[in-house]
Amino acid sequence: MPLVCVCSPKGGVGKTTVSANLAYALARSGSKVLVIDFDVQNALRLHFGVPISDTRGYVEQATTVMDWSQFILKADANVFVLPYGEAEEEQRLAFENAISHDPHFLQRGLSTVLNYPGLVVIADFPPGPVPALKAVQSFADLHIVMMLADTASLSLLPQIENHKFLGAPLNQRLGEYYVVNQSDMRRNLSRDVSHFFEQRLGDKLLGMIHRDECVPEANASQRSIIEFRPVSAAAFDIELISKKVAAIVGVKVGDGEMYAMPNPGI
Ligand SMILES: Nc1ncnc2c1ncn2[C@@H]1O[C@H](COP(=O)(O)OP(=O)(O)OP(=O)(O)O)[C@@H](O)[C@H]1O
Ligand SMILES: [Mg+2]
Repeated sequence: MPLVCVCSPKGGVGKTTVSANLAYALARSGSKVLVIDFDVQNALRLHFGVPISDTRGYVEQATTVMDWSQFILKADANVFVLPYGEAEEEQRLAFENAISHDPHFLQRGLSTVLNYPGLVVIADFPPGPVPALKAVQSFADLHIVMMLADTASLSLLPQIENHKFLGAPLNQRLGEYYVVNQSDMRRNLSRDVSHFFEQRLGDKLLGMIHRDECVPEANASQRSIIEFRPVSAAAFDIELISKKVAAIVGVKVGDGEMYAMPNPGI
């Protein structure tokens, strides 16, 4: 604990990028962090140096193995990843079916990691109101909703605010917060939309991330933005957002104690 969920009604808005870089930033501050991939694209692991040929993951055995912590891979000194893996269609459908029909399925599979002292868990979701997002609603500590600084994202904001996205408030504990990504103050529309988000969301806006070429470059090199280009605007933005997340979930910054994960996979 805590469990932080990164989600959005929209695809391609930076959910996976932010999940990964938030994990790196929190780990740099001394926390032990686990990232979980709920997306069949299985792309989150690529941010942590896992080779593309490494198809391991938890989904293929999720309905037969009770404790999914054995599928965790160690990515860095303080960073662990639970990849979705390359499951067969049948296994994926069994996983989704279990999520939809057994309200305790996810919590049971993740109970070791969710109860691990001091571990920060970050979950990356596919776009939209997917069953996994509904299933974590009752026990997630915080939701981060990713938006782009564009009108398409803006038009989806009422869905979240009016609880139409999942049919209920996204988060029942610390609430939902927002990150506006790919903000570009040189472009009129992006600047106007960013200002609108700022005014409308107030304290619920964790921060904005500049559109920055070093983001896809860092992703391509399988490194964090902070390590790849520490003086970039995006690295600065992510660092700031990670500090706010740490404060909201009550994670101490700078004096994290080192724990050993059980069964760290590799
Ligand atoms: N701040 C940024 N500046 C420039 N490019 C960015 C930024 N954030 C993300 N990107 C790029 O945008 C693309 C989409 O990012 P990402 O895959 O993280 O989005 P996603 O929301 O997880 O997508 P999906 O819905 O497919 O899961 C990637 O190519 C990424 O490198
Ligand atoms: Mg993604």
